[in-house]
Amino acid sequence: MTNTKPTVAVLGLGMMGAALTGALLRNGNTTTVWNRSAAKAEPLVAEGANFAQDVSDAVKSSEVIVVCVSTYGVVKDLLEPVASEIRGRVVVNLTSGTPEEARGMSAWAVQAGIRYLDGAIMGVPQMIGLPETLIFYGGPSDLFAEQEALLKVLGGEAVHLGEDAGVAMIYDLALLNLLWSSLTGYLQAQALVSTTGAPAEAFLPFAKIWMEQVVMPSIPESAGEVDAGSYVTDVSSLDVNKAAIKHLVDTCRELGVDDGMPVAVQKLIDKRVSQGHGNHSLASLFEALRQN
Ligand SMILES: NC(=O)c1ccc[n+]([C@@H]2O[C@H](COP(=O)([O-])OP(=O)(O)OC[C@H]3O[C@@H](n4cnc5c(N)ncnc54)[C@H](OP(=O)(O)O)[C@@H]3O)[C@@H](O)[C@H]2O)c1
Repeated sequence: MTNTKPTVAVLGLGMMGAALTGALLRNGNTTTVWNRSAAKAEPLVAEGANFAQDVSDAVKSSEVIVVCVSTYGVVKDLLEPVASEIRGRVVVNLTSGTPEEARGMSAWAVQAGIRYLDGAIMGVPQMIGLPETLIFYGGPSDLFAEQEALLKVLGGEAVHLGEDAGVAMIYDLALLNLLWSSLTGYLQAQALVSTTGAPAEAFLPFAKIWMEQVVMPSIPESAGEVDAGSYVTDVSSLDVNKAAIKHLVDTCRELGVDDGMPVAVQKLIDKRVSQGHGNHSLASLFEALRQN
């Protein structure tokens, strides 16, 4: 029986590119691989991938070209010399960068007649190919619809966010921001508690209760306030939080714990209070955050 699944080239066989290739091979796609350091192709060739000597060799018989390397600059360096060879074909770029880099790459691809989707993988290599794995895409909606079945092989939650090629990177960075700030918030809390001599394990149950009972419910509440543009509160005003966060900043200094994060939040609270919004909720910090 003829294999009707699209033929794919994967450029870049780092941790992520190797995982993407593995998922494609398990799905039965004829997959050709290329990597700057050729040795990384060996285990994938053993699993059934075709080995390409160079980028031109990799793309010549592939309908879809998946690129996953370290930077957009590398993506451009790899694709530019083969632009005429891949004219009319599909490039799915899963390399991380900024929205402007994604838009620049898309503009270049459009000019070269290449059909381009920009994606952001919201997970680690071990999650590639799972039905619940989220991958964001930006670019032409008809191209996404045409390639959706293939994209779901890489991550079952393949979400098209819009025509703007930069949109996937915005969502990617937004979620990374959520990870970095919330995890650092936990670690800051742990640093304070560790001055009492308590191990992290002892503090963990309280951190969990606080997250579940207070922090998590405050996110949908805040989303509602942000969308309504209304920050009336009967819970806790910025005036109250202004006093409380000063206690935190002072205590960090007294205990010799880094005060960088609390001071950053204190500045936002002070900014809103000085603008006359002391009776607003914490969610009104959104207004301070969205203008640099
Ligand atoms: N790993 C993750 O958990 C994860 C999650 C989401 C998104 N991503 C994104 O996926 C992309 C790849 O990540 P990774 O984890 O696979 O990184 P990695 O293991 O460090 O692999 C980097 C890849 O880029 C290639 N490369 C770097 N510079 C190059 C150059 N000048 N010319 C040609 N190839 C070059 C490397 O080739 P060599 O093997 O020859 O060095 C390798 O294939 C990144 O943009 C990353 O942000 C990764």
